[in-house]
Amino acid sequence: MSDKSHLNGKFNNILVSEIENPKGLKVGLIQLNRPDALNALNIDLMKEVVETLESFDKDTETGCMVLTGNAKAFAAGADIKEMAEATAIEMLLRDQFARWDRIRKIKKPVIAAVSGFALGGGCELAMTCDMIIAAKSAKFGQPEINLAVIPGAGGTQRLTKAVGKARAMEMILTGRMFSADEMFEAGLVTRVVENEIYLDEAVEIAKDISSKPTIAVQLAKECILKSFDSTIEAGLEFERKNFYLLFATEDKFEGMKAFVEKRKADWKGR
Ligand code: CAA
Repeated sequence: MSDKSHLNGKFNNILVSEIENPKGLKVGLIQLNRPDALNALNIDLMKEVVETLESFDKDTETGCMVLTGNAKAFAAGADIKEMAEATAIEMLLRDQFARWDRIRKIKKPVIAAVSGFALGGGCELAMTCDMIIAAKSAKFGQPEINLAVIPGAGGTQRLTKAVGKARAMEMILTGRMFSADEMFEAGLVTRVVENEIYLDEAVEIAKDISSKPTIAVQLAKECILKSFDSTIEAGLEFERKNFYLLFATEDKFEGMKAFVEKRKADWKGR
């Protein structure tokens, strides 16, 4: 794992590195690093996360990103201390969640590796990722109701789409924490693993994805996300156009030829 020191030098709230991948492109690793505040997501931290995701997204040597916290907390929510005295108009002008919209525009897959608390904005941040790998210890929740507010970074929408109305209502209206196993059964979590290996597991999946032809990976992600805000007809049309578009890539010809010739494909990312 080589240190991305030119990026680390710029940031105060996250650690950034790139992981070599003998199978393909590198994996970009972002670790939330405010342990004293259980990685509460203040404005500066989110700015750093979004800028780094965008930087990895543009980097042709990176195939996939992993976003993680530490063993005790992925993130315990938006920074309550930063919002405690804020008025509605201050929040409106601050518009801090607008930055989160940029995560939706990231083309490469982002995997959340979650251990410990993923609460409020922490759960919402994990849900902006494309997959969630959870340690057994992970606890997911939307406790905003206990602060007399509601999720503000997409929780009412993404959670409901992921786990359905019944479970989303329970989580958001009671604010109770749910275990990794409960969230796996509900469909929020991709995989639950032993506490010691959650990050390794996420990185292995990221390496695997980084070894695939990049344009196909990115268009597949875009098509899956499209399903959340389109009719089945519009979504199928979108998928079909992108399927045909992939026949314009060199990798498509190489992939099918390699299959016929019974050899490993040599991807070019074009
Ligand atoms: N914001 C700011 N600081 C936080 C925080 C948060 N969301 N969560 C924890 N911290 C801080 C605590 O204030 C404490 O700091 P000090 O040592 O300076 O007092 C430190 O992190 C450790 O926390 P605790 O002592 O509380 O640790 P614990 O193990 O006893 O409890 C916890 C852990 C149950 C997660 C508890 O910290 C907690 O309930 N945190 C708040 C969770 C929450 O309500 N999140 C939702 C925030 S609102 C939101 O996210 C809106 C949105 O939709 C974007």
